[in-house]
Amino acid sequence: MTERGLRLLHSGKVRDVYAEGADLILVASDRVSVYDVILPTPIPDKGAILTALSLWWFEQLAGVVPDHVLSATDVPSEWLGRAIRCRRLQMVPVECVARGYLAGSGTVRYRASGSISGVTLPGGLVEGSRLPEPIFTPTTKAPLGEHDEPMTEADVVAAVGPDLASRLCEVTLELYRRGASLAAERGIIVADTKIELGLDSDGVLRLGDELLTPDSSRFWPADTWAPGRTQPNLDKQFVRDWAASTGWDRKPPAPPVPPEVVEATRDRYVEIYQRLTGRRWT
Ligand SMILES: Nc1ncnc2c1ncn2[C@@H]1O[C@H](COP(=O)(O)OP(=O)(O)OP(=O)(O)O)[C@@H](O)[C@H]1O
Ligand SMILES: [Mg+2]
Repeated sequence: MTERGLRLLHSGKVRDVYAEGADLILVASDRVSVYDVILPTPIPDKGAILTALSLWWFEQLAGVVPDHVLSATDVPSEWLGRAIRCRRLQMVPVECVARGYLAGSGTVRYRASGSISGVTLPGGLVEGSRLPEPIFTPTTKAPLGEHDEPMTEADVVAAVGPDLASRLCEVTLELYRRGASLAAERGIIVADTKIELGLDSDGVLRLGDELLTPDSSRFWPADTWAPGRTQPNLDKQFVRDWAASTGWDRKPPAPPVPPEVVEATRDRYVEIYQRLTGRRWT
């Protein structure tokens, strides 16, 4: 318990979640996680950038589904800018992923089986290919230290029932389509994104967590997109690639991040924020 009566409920890889009465205060740290391991070096301003970008997206996409935001200002002053007061949701135990392009683990799964999360795709696709249409490829929400596993449509139905399962798919794809089309106007491809949804105390499905950030999405500059290789990106892939290049075995502890990589990572978070919102990061 802090002086204000805040109770730390959960410390995730990136966010610390506090309860205050019926509300939650979601505090985004400057931590960055790579292959589900937290790097020992923070990225300055990352938590504030993710928070500002999520708030901007919640506003842009408010028509699709209600969200969890109560206030971005009614938060403890030391966290102003990186915290959101939100409704406490009962989170749906599914990570809702939409993909419009083939990338990363999607490519690996496609190569192995021709499908992702049970969705069969046409032959001949390569890393970076645009899919015929956006697909819903949900995963489990793995506990800390474990990796999310693909879920098929039947798995999602078994977990949450048919009605909620089809809502999850519908909402995820609609958020992706609208978000991707808005980003496209700014020269950015949203290759894929992950959202989290939950039910409020009235049973209303609401968007929680973060929205269309470089931690939850792949962002590619449209002018350098070329299928058949990994794409230049404005997301977490940069620091992931750096971590992989060190020969690290992807098990904790992760190697410390050198200053120039911290700087280049921060620059990417700033750039995607500025390009999407049209605002300057100060
Ligand atoms: N409105 C909400 N109500 C309840 N829980 C929420 C809400 N919004 C986000 N969460 C949860 O808060 C946590 C955010 O922390 P963070 O993003 O750091 O977690 P993570 O590392 O992705 O996953 P994990 O929770 O497994 O550590 C997530 O578990 C997310 O599901
Ligand atoms: Mg998270």
